[in-house]
Amino acid sequence: MDFDVIVRNGTVVTASDIWECCDIGIKDGTITAVGPRLIAAAGVQEIDAEGAYVTPGGVDTHVHLSQLDGLIPDLPNYVADTYDTGTRSAVAGGTTTVITFASQMKKDESLVPVIEEYHKLAKGQSYCDYAFHVIVTNPTEHIVEHDFPKMVEEYGITSVKLYMTYKPMKLRDYQILDVMYSARKLGITTMVHAENADIIDWMTEHLEKKLMTNPHHHGTSRPPIVESEATNRVISLAELMDTPILLVHVSSGHATKHIRDAQTRLLPIYGETCPQYLFLLADSMRKGDFEGAKCVCSPPLRENKVDQDAIWAGIKNGTFTTFSSDHAPTKWAHPNGKQRGLQHGNLPYGKFRYIPNGLPGVETRLPLLFSGGVLSGRITPQKFVEVTATNPAKLYGLKKKGAIGPGFDADLTIWYPQEMFEPFKLTNEMLHHAIDYTPFEGIEFKNWPRYTIIRGKVVFSHGQVVGQMGYGQFIRRGKSLLPGPRDVWLSEWRP
Ligand code: URP
Ligand code: ZN
Ligand code: ZN
Ligand code: ZN
Repeated sequence: MDFDVIVRNGTVVTASDIWECCDIGIKDGTITAVGPRLIAAAGVQEIDAEGAYVTPGGVDTHVHLSQLDGLIPDLPNYVADTYDTGTRSAVAGGTTTVITFASQMKKDESLVPVIEEYHKLAKGQSYCDYAFHVIVTNPTEHIVEHDFPKMVEEYGITSVKLYMTYKPMKLRDYQILDVMYSARKLGITTMVHAENADIIDWMTEHLEKKLMTNPHHHGTSRPPIVESEATNRVISLAELMDTPILLVHVSSGHATKHIRDAQTRLLPIYGETCPQYLFLLADSMRKGDFEGAKCVCSPPLRENKVDQDAIWAGIKNGTFTTFSSDHAPTKWAHPNGKQRGLQHGNLPYGKFRYIPNGLPGVETRLPLLFSGGVLSGRITPQKFVEVTATNPAKLYGLKKKGAIGPGFDADLTIWYPQEMFEPFKLTNEMLHHAIDYTPFEGIEFKNWPRYTIIRGKVVFSHGQVVGQMGYGQFIRRGKSLLPGPRDVWLSEWRP
C-alpha cells in the first residue's frame, strides 16, 4: 500500500482495544491501514511511537472562544481566548477538534447572522479542526421553525445549548419545550446547563445582605441541590418530549444520580463532566483574599470529596458520555489593573456575583485525565479514549473523528514512552492560551502529548506548536450516532 506517513510501533488504543507494536498508515490525511509491520515505500515519513500510547486526537466538545455573550453585565467580550490562541492551546494538549459556541443574544431575531459572525471570527484562525454548537437564548417561532432546519441542513450544525440560569441567556421551561419540540423533529442534540436560576438569585441577594461576598460564597449560593433540581426537571421535559439531551458540566453526585436513573430507564439522556470536577475542590475558591476568583465556575467546585468520587464513578460506569474542558477563559488581571471581578466590589473583597464564571482548561484536559486517570490506575486507556474522543465524536455527528481505523481522519495524539518522561509540576508559563493563570497550577503530570497530528500532519511536537494558524477546517456535522428518540410517550399527545 501507498502511504504518506506511518506511525510506527505504538501501543494503539481505541475505545475497545489495545494493540501493541502496531503501525498506522496514513494517506491524504486519512488512516488507511492499522496493523503490524506496514511496508513503507521510499520517502514515506515515519513517526516513531515505540513504547508509547497512541490515542485518537482529543475531541473537546465544550470550548468557549471569542464568545460575545454578555454573560456578566458590564463585562462584554469577557472570553479572552480567540480562535488563534484557544486552538493553539488545544493542539499543545493533544486536542485535534474543538466544538465551540456561536451564541445568540436575546435581541438577535435570526440565527443566520449569528452563525456567520462566528464563522468570520474563526475562519483562517484555527490551528485545529472545529465545529459550532449554537447557544439559543431566545427561541422564537422563527428561530425554531425556520432557522433550526437551516442550521442543520445548510450549516451542518446539529446541536444547541440552552441555559436554565444566567439572566442574559436563561430559558423558561415553556421555551425549553419549544426548542425540544423542533430539535426532536430535526435530530438536533440539545445540551443543557442545568442550575435553578431563582435559587441562585435569591441566595446571592441574601448572602450579600450578610456581606458573604467572597469568591467561595459563589459556591455557598449554589449547593448541589441547585444543579440536581434543574437536572431532574430538564430530564422530565426531555422525557415528555422524547428527545435526547446532554447535561453539560455535571459537578455533583446528586445530578449524576438523576442522569444514571434516567439512563437505567433507557431514556436518551447523556452526561458530560469536566476536569475541574475531578481534580479540584471548593477549597481552591478560598485561597488568598480574592485569589479564589480564579476558580469560580458554574456549577461550582464542590466542597465534598463524596461529589468528586461520584463523578469518577460516573466516568467509570458510563454515566458520563463525554469529558470536556468547558474552556471558558477570562483573565485574572483586567485592563484597569483590578483582578477578576474586583472592580465591581464596594466591599473589601469585591462580590462573587461579578466574577466571570468559567475556567481555562482546553490544553490540560487530556493530560490531566491521562496522568491522573490512566497512569494512576483509576481508568483504563480504552475508557480514556471513549470519553475524550470516540463518544464526543459520535454524540455530535463528527463521523470521521474520534477513532483509529481505516477511513477516519488521521488525528492522533502520541504520548511519551513512560521511561522517557520526567514528571513535572504545571505552571501557567508552560501553557499556550492567552490567559494569565491556570487553576491547575502545581498539579503533577506524569505524561504529556509528544506529538499531536491532525489529518496526517504533525502540529505539535516535543513541546512546540509546529502547525499553522488556519490549518484547522470547519467541520459540517451530521446527526448524532448515539441513540435518539424512542417513540415512548407519557400521554396521548404526539408531536
Ligand atoms: O462557569 C462556566 N461553566 N462558564 C462557562 C459558561 C458555561 O456555562 O458553560
Ligand atoms: Zn431566519
Ligand atoms: Zn454552562
Ligand atoms: Zn461552558
